[in-house]
Amino acid sequence: MKLALITGITGQDGSYLADYLLTNDYEVHGVVRRTSSLERSRLAHLFKNPDIYNKRLFLHYADLEDITALRRIFLGIQADELYHLAGQSHVGLSFPMAEMTCDLTAIGTLRLLEIMRDMPGKPRLFHPSSSEIFGQPKSFPQNEDTPYLPTSPYGCAKAFATQIVKVYRDCYGLFACNGIMYNHESPRRGENFVSRKICRAAAAIKLGLQSKLVLGNLDAERDWGYAPDYVRGMWLSLQQQKADDYLFATGETHSVRELVDLAFNAMDLKWESYVELDTTLFRPSEPLRLVGNASKAKHELGWMPSCSFQELINLITRTEFDSLQQLGSERPLSGGIAFNRT
Ligand code: GDD
Repeated sequence: MKLALITGITGQDGSYLADYLLTNDYEVHGVVRRTSSLERSRLAHLFKNPDIYNKRLFLHYADLEDITALRRIFLGIQADELYHLAGQSHVGLSFPMAEMTCDLTAIGTLRLLEIMRDMPGKPRLFHPSSSEIFGQPKSFPQNEDTPYLPTSPYGCAKAFATQIVKVYRDCYGLFACNGIMYNHESPRRGENFVSRKICRAAAAIKLGLQSKLVLGNLDAERDWGYAPDYVRGMWLSLQQQKADDYLFATGETHSVRELVDLAFNAMDLKWESYVELDTTLFRPSEPLRLVGNASKAKHELGWMPSCSFQELINLITRTEFDSLQQLGSERPLSGGIAFNRT
């Protein structure tokens, strides 16, 4: 049985990756931050399974800044594969929280590579890079050779982390891969990312739980895919003979406005009656359009995206509708759903 260690296991990608690896007979260890809340809802289905939790799925406490605790966990587990998914992943919030973002995402990755260098049996490392490293690209679609031109503290931190992974691979022979991930969404997406925010609002408005949706830039265009596909790409990257970098994207681009239109259509609503713009939600700078060419991953890994943009937005909106309806019937919401200001 192979052993995998996941930092950021409680996030969208971490939880899908845990599902995927457990289905493929791995023993999975996750690093979690200690918080006062024990709610880890994306893993709830695994905690409930007596054959899985504390049998093939184990959690360990450590912060990314706590190097001694991390080192101890890494040495104790001696994993075959390490998926480093933890970090501050909200691009907008990286402007007010620039130092924290760079410390966790850039220096945090470097610290992890340093721990790996000292390990006797070195695990294979997957690092999730981001299309944000391309910022305002000069070519469309982007590929693994497109120059980095990040436009946010988050993009700068990811550019550093991506490059340092390559440097450690070349200098120290570590099996370390970057996956350049374009936006990937699902019903497990955090509520302050635009897909979930919009789909949740459309469902809540339909159910009379919310009256309006406040958004920022509707003209931004992104390449949005389905998160479980991207998690499969992470695993495939680590099963190759040689470590390399791969870009994961659908190759299609859509605007935030199109996303709003699809989500509200799925609820038979006209979005123009409910959406308000708030300039404070516009970012100081951001990529206006990102679209990726995943040919290398398709040819070398056999990777393919499985879900169209419309199917994805329908899935998130309908899942949201069902869970809000259930919540509403069990526990009526008094003040409605709070407006999300990120
Ligand atoms: N979050 C948010 N909230 N975004 C909004 C809003 C809003 O109210 N209104 C408009 N947007 C626009 C943003 O300006 C951006 O252009 C787009 O919606 C997508 O925003 P997010 O869903 O927050 O994702 P992101 O593209 O900034 O970053 C995501 O994808 C990256 C890969 O390309 C994150 O998952 C990153 O961690 C990831 O690296």
